[in-house]
Amino acid sequence: MALATLQEVLSIAVESNTAIPGFNIDNIEGTEAIMDAAEEEHCPVILTVGQGAIKAGQLEHLADLVKRIARESTVPVVLHLDHGISYEQTVQCLRLGFTSVMYDGSHDSLADNIRESQTVVRSAHAVGVSVECELGAISGVEDGISHKNVNLVDVDEVREFISKVDCDALAVGIGNAHGMYQGTPHFDFDRLQACQKLSPPPLVLHGGSGTPDDMIRQAIKLGIRKINVATELRMAFMEGLESTVGQRDFYQMYRTAKENMAALARHKIQLFQGKL
Ligand code: 13P
Repeated sequence: MALATLQEVLSIAVESNTAIPGFNIDNIEGTEAIMDAAEEEHCPVILTVGQGAIKAGQLEHLADLVKRIARESTVPVVLHLDHGISYEQTVQCLRLGFTSVMYDGSHDSLADNIRESQTVVRSAHAVGVSVECELGAISGVEDGISHKNVNLVDVDEVREFISKVDCDALAVGIGNAHGMYQGTPHFDFDRLQACQKLSPPPLVLHGGSGTPDDMIRQAIKLGIRKINVATELRMAFMEGLESTVGQRDFYQMYRTAKENMAALARHKIQLFQGKL
């Protein structure tokens, strides 16, 4: 199957009142684990390349990997840039065949975020690629980068942003954070509802790791159509590997790690699809 765009898979989510997983990928084995889960659940999947992977020199390797995997896949696969740091980085991804890019201008002023996001949208849409933008910087640690900003999105800013930027998805800060939560997270669902009332493009929840299942269900009910998960999947992979310490069979070690990660990905997909 050819790669799908973010806009294409999110329209499926809008139709079915579900959320599509945005899973960060770091290596071949983890990507295969996610694909095993997505194929088993017949669920479209957004394979997301984050800034940590890019800093580790994996951008082109992961893009090639996803393009090959998508050709063999029975479910729609999106090749997506996570938290794009500049217009230039998004253009680099367009050249590499990404079908979706995120431009994250949430740490800038609203005016700057609008201006840069418009530029990214113009270039990406010219070649049929979707764009995710962000308002209300997500706090926590993303790929080793610490974001300290308060992360409650301003609803008036959402109104202004969506009237000026023709993006295909919008990530909003409602108390969510990257990395595992200490204790139960507090999401401002009233704020999410107020955003949804503005008829925005499909809304995105970052920082899915460690979010209790009932909060995920509530977020989907209130209009979240893409949910990002990274940390929890990496932990599942590493815990699987750790459980094989002492073994000498390289491929068996990876098989165990993959199975552990695939089981978690399957749980998340079932939850996002309203099956749990
Ligand atoms: P977590 O690592 O908290 O799951 O967040 C992932 C994310 O939002 C990537 O953009």
